[in-house]
Amino acid sequence: MRIAFELSGEHPTLPRADVLGALEAEGVALRKVSFTPELLIVDALRPPRRALERVSLSRFVDRVLAIGAWSAILRAAARIPLAGETFRVRAHGPFSPAEKRDLERQVGGAMDPRGRVDLGDPIRDFRLLRHGGAFLLGEALLEVERSDMEARKVARRPFSMPISLHPKLARALVNLSRCPHDGAILDPFCGTGGIAIEAARLGMTVFASDLQEKMVKGTASVLKHYGLKGTTFVADVGEVHRHLRKVKAIATDPPYGRAASTRGEPPEDLYRRAFSAFKALLPIGGYAAVVLPSEEAIRIGEERLRLEEAHTMRVHQSLTRTFCAFVKVR
Ligand SMILES: C[S@@+](CC[C@H](N)C(=O)[O-])C[C@H]1O[C@@H](n2cnc3c(N)ncnc32)[C@H](O)[C@@H]1O
Repeated sequence: MRIAFELSGEHPTLPRADVLGALEAEGVALRKVSFTPELLIVDALRPPRRALERVSLSRFVDRVLAIGAWSAILRAAARIPLAGETFRVRAHGPFSPAEKRDLERQVGGAMDPRGRVDLGDPIRDFRLLRHGGAFLLGEALLEVERSDMEARKVARRPFSMPISLHPKLARALVNLSRCPHDGAILDPFCGTGGIAIEAARLGMTVFASDLQEKMVKGTASVLKHYGLKGTTFVADVGEVHRHLRKVKAIATDPPYGRAASTRGEPPEDLYRRAFSAFKALLPIGGYAAVVLPSEEAIRIGEERLRLEEAHTMRVHQSLTRTFCAFVKVR
C-alpha cells in the first residue's frame, strides 16, 4: 500500500523523521520511501492504523490512488466505485483559490456519478496534491489531530510553566525514540509532563522523574487530569537506575543552561551524568531521543551512544534546540 504523509512544513527535516520514527517504532516494513519538501511517500506492507495515528508533524495521511499527469489523475478518479457513497475532493498545494476550485470541480466531475458530493462530512475524502511536476490523487486515511494537540498546549494544562515543549514536538520526540506503543519509556527530566502525556496517550508504559518534587507532583496531576497512567518519582538523573531496571526507550528535554535550573551544576557535567544513566538503562538497540542546546552537548552524547539523526531548530538568537536520536550500540 502506498501512503502519502502531507508534511506540516514546520521544519525542513523533523516532520519526515517523525513519520519514519513512528513507522519504525511499530515495526512497519517499508519497501520504498521517497519524498519532496511537502510529501513523504512510503510503500508499506499493511501498516497498522496505530502506526499512522502516532504521526505528529503531518496534516493528513492518505492512501495514494494515482500519481501522474492531469489526464492520468482524471482517469484514476473515474475508476473509483462510489455507489451510494458521499465524497468530497479537496486540492491542497500551491494553487490559487480559482485554480483550486477548478481542479476540484474537474476531479469531482470525473468521479462515479453514483456518488454524491458532501463537503461537510463525507464518507470518502479525496485529496488532490502537487507532487513535483505532477499531481497526486489520494484518499485521506486520517487527519492528524493537530487541534487536540494545540488544546494540550502547556498554557491550557492544569500545571504549566513556559519550559514545556509544544505537544506536537513532544510527540515527535517520542516518535524519534522508536518506542513501540506497548513499550516502557522514561523521561528523567519530566518538568511539566508534556512528553509523559504524549507517550501515555500512545499507550506506552510511562516513567517520569525530575529532581524537583513540584515538577513530579505536577506531572502526576496532569496525567491524572487527562485520565492517563504513569509512574512518577523524584530523582536526580544520575540516580534513576536505582528506581528502574531497563526501559525500551528514553525521550527527554534536559535543562539547557541559564534559563532552566540545574542547581548550579555546569550543564556539561549534567549531560555527562545523564548520558551515562541513559546508557545504563537502555538495551542494545534502544533509543534515547534528547533535545540538546549545543554541539558540545551532542558530542557528550556521542561519547556514550551513537548519534542516528539530528534536527536543529533556532528558537531565538541565543538558543537553538537540536532534536537528536541516539542509539545504544554497545
Ligand atoms: C527543560 S525542563 C523539562 C521540560 C519538560 N519537557 C516539560 O514539558 O515541561 C528541565 C527539567 O529538568 C529538571 N532537572 C534539572 N536538573 C536535574 C537533575 N539533575 N536530575 C533530574 N532533573 C533535573 C528541572 O527540574 C526541569 O524540570
